[in-house]
Amino acid sequence: MTVPNSPVIGPSAVPHLDVDPFAMSFFADPYPTHEKLREAGPVVYLDKWNVYGVARYAEVHAVLNDPATFCSSRGVGLSDFKKETPWRPPSLILEADPPAHTRTRAVLSKVLSPTVMKQVRDRFAAAAEARVDALLDKRSFDAITDLAEAYPLSIFPDALGLKAEGREHLIPYASVVFNAFGPPNQLRQEAIERSAPHQAYVAEQCQRENLAPGGFGACIHARVDDGEITATEAPLLVRSLLSAGLDTTVNGIGAAVYCLARFPDQWQRLREDLSLARGAFEEAVRFESPVQTFFRTTTREVELSGAKIGEGEKVLMFLAAANRDPRRWDKPDSYDITRRTSGHVGFGSGIHMCVGQLVARLEGEVMLMALARRIAKIEITGEPKRRFNNTLRGLDSLPVTITPA
Ligand code: HEM
Repeated sequence: MTVPNSPVIGPSAVPHLDVDPFAMSFFADPYPTHEKLREAGPVVYLDKWNVYGVARYAEVHAVLNDPATFCSSRGVGLSDFKKETPWRPPSLILEADPPAHTRTRAVLSKVLSPTVMKQVRDRFAAAAEARVDALLDKRSFDAITDLAEAYPLSIFPDALGLKAEGREHLIPYASVVFNAFGPPNQLRQEAIERSAPHQAYVAEQCQRENLAPGGFGACIHARVDDGEITATEAPLLVRSLLSAGLDTTVNGIGAAVYCLARFPDQWQRLREDLSLARGAFEEAVRFESPVQTFFRTTTREVELSGAKIGEGEKVLMFLAAANRDPRRWDKPDSYDITRRTSGHVGFGSGIHMCVGQLVARLEGEVMLMALARRIAKIEITGEPKRRFNNTLRGLDSLPVTITPA
């Protein structure tokens, strides 16, 4: 690390770090580097990709909550849409700024509202019970494929109103989307090279005639009739749910099960009080941060915690590092299901804060309740294998054996 002493605008005025937060070695164990990033200063510069970085809670929160200065419309990955053509048409919500964002966000907020969650809750809970029945029959299984993936796949595509055929494209498509936020490394290049069949599937599924009545997808299209969005915007908003609604919860549920299997005292606490299921899931989102990073682009010259950043600079927000910043959290590296997690940035913060968070929380809560009610013990019986992605953190495989209650 070098710390130049001239307080000028631009990268020379902040600590430079020679770390690659998109390298396999980083993904394998990001925590020592997260600490290095936080301790180096409130704002750092990463020479590997020529971007600013923020890893402390205060600065990550500040950037998330100043969308006029730190915009999303130039892409929330490394690629600057002002300088490069995006790999797919930009998202109308994630990669948009107000006022355009305000309108599309209102539509998705209504489609995924608390009232809608009440309507799907029983269905989601019954599917969680059915999944646990199947796992109890097996006793030994892979907690990623057989649980963290199988459960959301058994409810979310139906809730969206997708056809039965072609659903095998969903997780690979999401993996492309989240890899594509990263730099032009091997993960991103290979993902985009293989994306054509997944993109074709998704484009087709987002059309009104392919979505079952009553599902989230049809509800988005119905907003066209009210004049809230146009007929060309609707399929792209459905695409947002296909992009962000499945792999995220797979990794969120995977994180929660991985935490509860590693921290048996927390598992016991949950078993004794099922009302802690929601907190256990939320704490897993803080602790593991399934979505690790997002970028913003500066719209003007700005001073952030003493660092002067010029216009048109990419700023990488380490959500995961902020979620374990000791300046903000007491014992940040312990998984505590009774922790007051409010304010964590695992779902983001501010105007872009996850619009699907109620869906994620509902899935997490009903699954953890179903598990804790019927299972006494979860033991890890083999080496967990990590799944590498430029944005998402999660496992590829987690062999476990369960003991019935
Ligand atoms: C544990 C699961 C999930 C996590 C950790 C997660 C995380 C996030 C984060 C960090 C953001 C903020 C992006 C930014 O500030 O640029 C976000 C936004 C978003 N999420 Fe999620 N998400 C999850 C589940 C879901 C689900 C289930 C859906 C859809 C049903 C969804 C749809 C979206 C959409 C459309 C946005 C963009 C919102 C906007 O730009 O206004 N997410 N999510």
